[in-house]
Amino acid sequence: MSAMSILRIHEFPDEVLRRPADPVGNVDGRLQALIDDMFETLYAAPGLGLAAPQVGAPLQLFVYDMGIREGERERKIILNPTIVEQEGEIAEEEGCLSIPDYREIVKRAAKVFLKGYDRDGRELQIEAHGLEARLFQHELDHLNGVLMFERLSPLKRDLFQRRLKKRLKTAGE
Ligand code: NI
Repeated sequence: MSAMSILRIHEFPDEVLRRPADPVGNVDGRLQALIDDMFETLYAAPGLGLAAPQVGAPLQLFVYDMGIREGERERKIILNPTIVEQEGEIAEEEGCLSIPDYREIVKRAAKVFLKGYDRDGRELQIEAHGLEARLFQHELDHLNGVLMFERLSPLKRDLFQRRLKKRLKTAGE
């Protein structure tokens, strides 16, 4: 038995965050260990969701836990997810563990229908709305190498990039 460990969360502008992830082929012991470590990392952050590319693994999987807010853990994992249907539009604030100290209003579909697999290879079909729908879209973007600021208007995106450049410059001084 190996101990679980907290992984390093890669931050923008790390290249691993910009590459589309590869589909998961089979769920072996190494992948199960990665999933356990991702939960440890998610709880330590703390955050609601974490996609594999954020910990440097270019694989189509993400973990999440909506129970965190109620103080009751509910570990969920989705492999090879796709959104097959979406409906409506809603603008709400969100953040990202790979972009620390940044929150912004992002427009997302209000309701999504997601298909994928659990860690035992069973097929999942989930209809989500509210925060869960937002989380699915955010994590799925990570699996496609897309970060939340790319969902903003050109004006806000520009503002983000300027603020970030300033911060990176200050950090390097
Ligand atoms: Ni994120």
